[in-house]
Amino acid sequence: MEISTTLATQHVSDPRLAEILDDPGFGVHFTDHMFTVEWTPEDGWHAARITPYGPLTLDPATAVLHYAQEIFEGMKAYRHDDGSIWAFRPEANAERMVHSSRRLALPVLEPADFIAAVEALVTVDQRWVPEEGAAEKSLYVRPFMIATDKFLGVRPAKHVTFMVIASPAGPYFSKGPLPITLWLTTEYTRAGRGGMGAAKTGGNYASSLVAQQEAIEQGCDQVVFLDGQELRYVEELGGMNMYFVYADGRIVTPQLGTILEGITRSSIIEIAGKMGHQVEERRISVDEWRDGVTSGEISEVFACGTAAVVTPVGSLRWAGGRTPEVAEAGKVTLAIRQALVDIQYGRADDTFGWMRRIV
Ligand code: PLP
Ligand code: COI
Repeated sequence: MEISTTLATQHVSDPRLAEILDDPGFGVHFTDHMFTVEWTPEDGWHAARITPYGPLTLDPATAVLHYAQEIFEGMKAYRHDDGSIWAFRPEANAERMVHSSRRLALPVLEPADFIAAVEALVTVDQRWVPEEGAAEKSLYVRPFMIATDKFLGVRPAKHVTFMVIASPAGPYFSKGPLPITLWLTTEYTRAGRGGMGAAKTGGNYASSLVAQQEAIEQGCDQVVFLDGQELRYVEELGGMNMYFVYADGRIVTPQLGTILEGITRSSIIEIAGKMGHQVEERRISVDEWRDGVTSGEISEVFACGTAAVVTPVGSLRWAGGRTPEVAEAGKVTLAIRQALVDIQYGRADDTFGWMRRIV
């Protein structure tokens, strides 16, 4: 893929950038450039370009606005102490996007091209990658693919656009790694057999919002979804996977199928294994969760994802009940979190070969 570059003539000034990077928040500020490449059946992927960041002009009949044929990825670039910039397992994001594109009948973007696009954008906007600081800052990178046909018939698009944008990020939860409270929804599910649960597509997030709203109304931070068939087995949160630590050292995470295969989840399977934990990918019922944390058989619960890293769970609430409140992050949770961020920020040896240098 050949990428042309048109540099922005106006940049965010250095003092303003310093202010933004001091407290970036999550997903509110965007870098000076963006990456775009387009696809048609006749020409394949073409016209790859880096251009100044700016709004898109879309016809009101653009397919994605109506039928949500869209997929996205979320990944981070980390600045190490020596100033170099690294991506964490970008091949895994690229492969997952291939998987999502198959489910949404979108064209496949070759992983090498996905990675080249991410690298090109991060390289041109490298001044936007924050120093780690106290809050584990990074540059959040958001690749996405949309159906850009101007057509209201329902069919896979014949004009598709893939873009990458980037946004400096601090912690996703303003509380940092303090325990969050989860709300158990028994009304809404996010995925079913044959559905889109394992794809990273906007519709899954749209469908999670009403349940997330309910969670907030109930004084909770995030919502937990159960399986769509029996409403019995834990699936995941709106944007994170779940982990349960047992007092005997075992670690359990819900099996794949209708959940998103989180790259943080997969990495923790390997990290925890290396730390000597037995890791089980299996069904875990909400009864096992409730009874386990009440009896002490389950000693820690945490959620994980690119944006949220590893976030301890303080308690689970549902209509009419709650598990005992846990005020502090558990030891195993913190050790796994530390092992992961130490690799990402280059403080520990990358024994798994997960980091890819960009700058
Ligand atoms: N589950 C959902 C629904 C998500 O949106 C995310 C975030 O991307 C995850 C899990 C965690 O995935 P990853 O660790 O690849 O960020
Ligand atoms: C991520 O962790 O990358 C996500 O996509 C989660 C959220 C921002 C939707």
